[in-house]
Amino acid sequence: MKFEEKYKKEASCLSQLKPTKSSGIAGWKSPSNIALIKYWGKRDHQLPQNPSLSFTLDKSYTETRLQYESVGKKSQGFDVDFKFENRHHPEFAERIKTYLNAISEYLPFIRDFHFEINSYNSFPHSSGIASSASSMSALALCLVSMEKLLFERIKNDEAFYQKASFLSRLGSGSASRSVYTDYVVWGKHKNIPGSTDEVAIRLNEDISARFKGLRDAILITGSGKKKISSSSGHLLMSQHPYAKARYRQAKTNMEQLLRALKTEDEQLFIETVENEALSLHALMMTSAEGYTLLNENSWNIINHIRQFRKDNNLFLTFTLDAGPNVHLLYFAENKKQIQTFIQKELLQFCEAKQWIDDRAGNGPQKIL
Ligand code: PMV
Repeated sequence: MKFEEKYKKEASCLSQLKPTKSSGIAGWKSPSNIALIKYWGKRDHQLPQNPSLSFTLDKSYTETRLQYESVGKKSQGFDVDFKFENRHHPEFAERIKTYLNAISEYLPFIRDFHFEINSYNSFPHSSGIASSASSMSALALCLVSMEKLLFERIKNDEAFYQKASFLSRLGSGSASRSVYTDYVVWGKHKNIPGSTDEVAIRLNEDISARFKGLRDAILITGSGKKKISSSSGHLLMSQHPYAKARYRQAKTNMEQLLRALKTEDEQLFIETVENEALSLHALMMTSAEGYTLLNENSWNIINHIRQFRKDNNLFLTFTLDAGPNVHLLYFAENKKQIQTFIQKELLQFCEAKQWIDDRAGNGPQKIL
């Protein structure tokens, strides 16, 4: 447990030190990401059962401002005033308190502060887009900024983002990948040097400009609250009859996808990415509770994408998150043709004709 031990040691040093300031503010804008190789199933303390790979988005992000003020030593509990889009949100505030409690063994000083947190999402609240990756990474980045300012011990950007990834992971596994730009891997894989279950890393391969600049049209087909949360979905994997085979499949799919990205093999990319998306939902259907998050319009969109690809011999494919929305992936050079296709054929299946014109982005940005 390399990182866990390291951060625990650091924590015991931090707890001996006096912060250089008694108040301050940190702010980060952090994007969501879309996994092409899916993380589904965890063990121990938010560690993944298989490696995953995603690219970081651009337009779907959370902006978080964290104001902190010293209140002296407290024995327990956290003092958090949380506002989401300028309104108090007690449910999110409780989640944040639980999270702060969980990470306080790595950042012991947070117990001595009162927090005012303001968060805002760029994507519509009712779009059904999972915001845990962007929101948890934005918060973790703010907390690491706070540590950096108060103790001046974080030496460089590499150490900064590593710790942010580690702490994001403890809030939401997929959030660990949001702190980096381009293609990001989380979870150990024998063919990816430096990959680990504890933090995400940037994929250090030569990836063509076309794949680096991948576009993602997020087609909104359902905005309601999910029947089964991702946390429950991960738990169902521990008793899943296909679990072992799934973890093997994810590793093989990772190898295939790396090959596809390196050699610009479009067909292999399509096969692998669609197989991952449908396998994720097949796992939900075949779990003990046997549920599906896809709806009729998710399937209508998938079928239209496949037909359009066949008719036009173009590179376009899809992936799915843990929800009914479809992510249509395509190259920037085909933007005009694909967006006409979206307008003419796909919007009829979207809830209130909603879609997000997203793309691979540049990672998080410090705003304060
Ligand atoms: O990070 P969580 O616990 O919300 O799980 C995310 C799971 C998927 O989005 C379905 C896959 C992934 O790797 O992002």
